[in-house]
Amino acid sequence: MSTDLDPAALLEQLTLTEKAALCLGSDFWHTAPVERLGIPAVALSDGPHGLRKVPEDGVDVALGESLPATCFPTASALGSSWDVDLAYRIGIALADEARAQGVAVILGPGINIKRSPLCGRNFEYFAEDPVLSGRLATAMIDGIQSRGVGTSLKHFAANNQESDRLRVSADVDERTLREIYLAGFEIAVTSARPWTVMCAYNRVNGVHASQHRWLLTDVLRDEWGFEGLVVSDWGAVHDRVAALAAGLDLEMPPKLGISDVAIVDAVHSGALDGEVLDESVSRVLELVHRARAIEPVDGIEVDAHHELARAAARDCAVLLKNDGPALPLQPSPGQTIAVIGEFARTPRFQGAGSSQVNPTRIDTALDALSAGVPDGVEVAFAAGFRLDGMADDGLAGEAVELARRADAVVVFCGVPAADESEGYDRTHMRLPAEQLDLLPRLAGANASVVLVLANGSTVELTDAASHATAVLETWLSGQAAGGAVADLVLGVANPSGRLAETIPLRLEDNSSYLNFPGEDGHVRYGEGVFVGYRGYDALDQQVAFPFGHGLSYTTFDYADLQIDVIGDAVEVRCTVTNTGARHGKEVVQIYVGDVESSVSRPVRELKAFVKVDLAPGQSHPVTCTLSPRDFSYWSTRRGGWHLEAGEFEIAVGSSSRDLRLRSTVQLTSDEAPLPLDGMSTLQEWLADPAAARLLRAAVVDGNDGAAARTILDNEELQRLIGNFPISSLAAMPGSGLSPAIVTDVVAELQRTR
Ligand code: BGC
Repeated sequence: MSTDLDPAALLEQLTLTEKAALCLGSDFWHTAPVERLGIPAVALSDGPHGLRKVPEDGVDVALGESLPATCFPTASALGSSWDVDLAYRIGIALADEARAQGVAVILGPGINIKRSPLCGRNFEYFAEDPVLSGRLATAMIDGIQSRGVGTSLKHFAANNQESDRLRVSADVDERTLREIYLAGFEIAVTSARPWTVMCAYNRVNGVHASQHRWLLTDVLRDEWGFEGLVVSDWGAVHDRVAALAAGLDLEMPPKLGISDVAIVDAVHSGALDGEVLDESVSRVLELVHRARAIEPVDGIEVDAHHELARAAARDCAVLLKNDGPALPLQPSPGQTIAVIGEFARTPRFQGAGSSQVNPTRIDTALDALSAGVPDGVEVAFAAGFRLDGMADDGLAGEAVELARRADAVVVFCGVPAADESEGYDRTHMRLPAEQLDLLPRLAGANASVVLVLANGSTVELTDAASHATAVLETWLSGQAAGGAVADLVLGVANPSGRLAETIPLRLEDNSSYLNFPGEDGHVRYGEGVFVGYRGYDALDQQVAFPFGHGLSYTTFDYADLQIDVIGDAVEVRCTVTNTGARHGKEVVQIYVGDVESSVSRPVRELKAFVKVDLAPGQSHPVTCTLSPRDFSYWSTRRGGWHLEAGEFEIAVGSSSRDLRLRSTVQLTSDEAPLPLDGMSTLQEWLADPAAARLLRAAVVDGNDGAAARTILDNEELQRLIGNFPISSLAAMPGSGLSPAIVTDVVAELQRTR
């Protein structure tokens, strides 16, 4: 640690006013400097898929006016790559751009769970599954922080909608929070140690996330060991003193002259412990200290990063359907490819809001396809529809005419920018009507229609996909998406993305449907842990395309599943072989399900995954180690993770519904049995072998040596009133139990345990 910025020494020298000032930014994007002591300001900047550095003289809230930066695939796309190495490499590139622009902390990644397909910000989040989200976030944070630049893991927590986002209370039971909405944060915090965590805007069970002590201190710091700084989402603080007491170190942007004054007053009045303030100030100083070690670089590597963005976009696209196979196209000289859809010329490659990047350049699919086809192949374009949603029969007619004379059609559809953004949720998940009207007409005009989609959140595809021979979902895949699409369509690259969220047949099938976006300031997470595929699987619902699904131009074979219990770990091994004629990447997905459980659990849950790159004919061994936690659920009664002894199914597959290998494993648990007392039911006493023995002995003793004619020897009665607490049964004549027997047996059990 350099002596000129020693956080501990500086803390001693700061006045109360300076300490209060440090717990607020100095402006929209900087922490507060203290010139007297040589403490500089630190710059924070969005965002997760490209830097949004507002120029020093720029308008802070204006979008699209930031300094040019590479726009990488958004999280909706990167989530579909299932590729932790890729996330790491993008992290490095983001960090290098941050170093070039004097940014110390990148405000990302965002890993809120895609609870509903309608969330306007789904494009900024990875997945409907916490393991996938948490592992990708870990890799991205590792990549960024390996270059000495900080991250801000956001938005903590349960920020799963935009409607009423600054006030709505996400009403979620603890088990659901732990298993679904906190689990990804837990993975990233404990394995990647982000420099900062950003609190969410919303309330969680009635308390603003910015003032939520249980979230920000009990869970984040005390349980997960987080040692970094907690920053507010921009404008999320409503009571600065309460937020500080809850564990929120830095308020952004600052309410200058209000929050700082409130902190000073609270310390003077004794309402705020000075030590609490000191802890937060220390964390801010530690951040400043880390930021000072960042080595600046000159300029950004525009070309190399654009190429990385293109390679990344290739690995993010999901080939949903490929009848024939229609893709890749193999046009011969003299043939015509009809490129239809305004998106081919005016690409949609990122979402709107705080993550909006001012790209260094933009590839269009139209240009890239024209450049990529062999000599002598004509690429002809027709817009087909307008992006402003106005019907235009002329455009549609031209597109149909072009389709009729072409040898193949590639039609670019998607969700217009105005339909999905930070700040508001969608109201439906359909493609615009003019696109849906055009598709059957194109299919009527040409037998080979390839549908390429660009959208941040999922769209209903049942109808649209039926008019296409192949469907390629590209999400919002960054500034080089156009080139990547051309690579995939022409077979220069092989698709390897897999769905990070289920595409349901219809919105109504999604488990959040009846509780989204809530009302009167509350949104009830009534579906509990049954989010995304966990919900569709529990109800055995048909879906359009399942979680984990994605096709390739080659095929993969799975074999040799071997499961070994080693200590308390379970090692899963198998071999994957590329059985086709092309190089390709497969995502091997490992799911766990509890065969019989005392609580309601998902049929199966993703616990591990590996992306392997295989040449034709090549085999690769895959090994994953599962921990007891991977088999556990959050037990509200026990207040902790609980592995219930018994049989578990381990399934390995290419999607959540394409499971190629399955086996079971028997696990034991050395956890103490649940404590029992007079309010425990007879069934609970009898389910615990040692407790059952004690109870039987006490009943025999208390009934002159005979248990006959007591409830213990009457199965019918046990079925009827076995769910009564034993202290209630004690009051029932004929049960064989008495208050004295209950007192004795409870005391005896406590003595033996
Ligand atoms: C967003 C954050 C973002 C911040 C700063 C907020 O509105 O929710 O994700 O980092 O603004 O732009």
